[in-house]
Amino acid sequence: MNILLLGSGGREHAFAWKIVQSPRCNQLFVAPGNPGTAEIAINVPLGATDFLGIHEFIQNHAIDLLVIGPEEPLVKGLVDYLHAQQGMEQLPIVGPSKLGATLEGSKDFSKQFMRRNNVPTAAYATFHAGQLEEGLAYLEQQSLPIVLKADGLAAGKGVLICENLEEAKISLKEMLVDAKFGEASSKVVVEEFLTGIELSVFVATDGISYKILPEAKDYKRIGEGDTGLNTGGMGAISPVPFADAAFLSKVEERIVKPSIQGLEKEGIPFKGFLFIGLMNTNGDPYVIEYNVRMGDPETEAVLPRIESDFVDLLAAIAGCSLESYTLQLSSKTCATVVMVSGGYPEEYEKGFSISIPGERIGTVLFHAGTARNESGSLVNSGGRVLAVTGMGNDLEEALASAYGTIEKVSWQKAYFRRDIGQDILRLKIK
Ligand code: AMP
Ligand code: GLY
Repeated sequence: MNILLLGSGGREHAFAWKIVQSPRCNQLFVAPGNPGTAEIAINVPLGATDFLGIHEFIQNHAIDLLVIGPEEPLVKGLVDYLHAQQGMEQLPIVGPSKLGATLEGSKDFSKQFMRRNNVPTAAYATFHAGQLEEGLAYLEQQSLPIVLKADGLAAGKGVLICENLEEAKISLKEMLVDAKFGEASSKVVVEEFLTGIELSVFVATDGISYKILPEAKDYKRIGEGDTGLNTGGMGAISPVPFADAAFLSKVEERIVKPSIQGLEKEGIPFKGFLFIGLMNTNGDPYVIEYNVRMGDPETEAVLPRIESDFVDLLAAIAGCSLESYTLQLSSKTCATVVMVSGGYPEEYEKGFSISIPGERIGTVLFHAGTARNESGSLVNSGGRVLAVTGMGNDLEEALASAYGTIEKVSWQKAYFRRDIGQDILRLKIK
């Protein structure tokens, strides 16, 4: 198969790394890709939302399968656009339709979907700009803390957890009336605060059948001990020890099944990955959010644990034959640690030369925000720069491998968290 993969992050490097291991892959193109994908595939200078360019490229390069990594082209409707082009009606694509992607693109849509399909989630109400008074009155009746969510995509920044009523009222007004998150907060979901431990479950689906991929836990805050600003993700581990068989079976029965059945029943085409962000509240799972793609950096910890052929999996998703695919998983543990540019998620300097060791025992190194400068040296070019995944028989071993490699990677002002997985190790000891 000739495969085109869209995206440029660590997630896409991990996808590419897995795809080229399959005997079913003939040529892999990545648009736009990064220096890591350039080592194993052919990078194409096309943005992931350049619909016209992507259409032409698929036509000219006999692409048999398109795999869409990030949410933006999905939410903007790339799948519907391509399927509406002459000769492309049947193009196999991994990535949901625009309507399916609305599960990530609109929090209100996803909450209504959950409500209709009896998927456990936090109680909520939605308000639009003309309903500030109703919204403020609603806030007065809720217990604290309370969660305010911009309805639309807000680059992971649109969620506010308010500890007191005054703060919540001010924030609601800022979001609805002062467009704090632009168009994304022209509607706001006000939601009950859930307590517990978070984890993410990834489901591959062709819209009818599904396979549950390994679960993962990510580390969102910049600082150790989960402190400081939110980031795209500073690390991830898989499996998650507190997600035992009993808990995962509740997730499948109460959440995965009704979600996939809901998609089918409501006629929402969805061939791709459903990423379910969950709260484990006293052993019961509640959905915090759906995403319509794999997570980053969770993908870097999840994909190395898939042992069955990955291109077969992608082809089965796009070709609606997932029911007959046998998913084989490794029982090993993966731990991913993300190295970022010093200063991220606020301002940071780019262009420092990166030195990477030749020997990286027990680890795979994925590129994200890297680039080649004019002289061809590898430099940092984004906030999240590299993701290093260690694999081991248990979490300690996986972490030791990841940090062993990380200690040998360097560039000026590089930063990473030294405590990825430590909360889980402490839980196990207790
Ligand atoms: P989201 O963008 O919906 O994933 O929200 C970002 C983060 O806010 C989540 O990862 C949670 O840590 C937190 N969060 C969102 N909704 C809730 C909720 N209802 N209760 C508690 N925490 C929440
Ligand atoms: N790591 C969280 C995400 O990909 O949305």
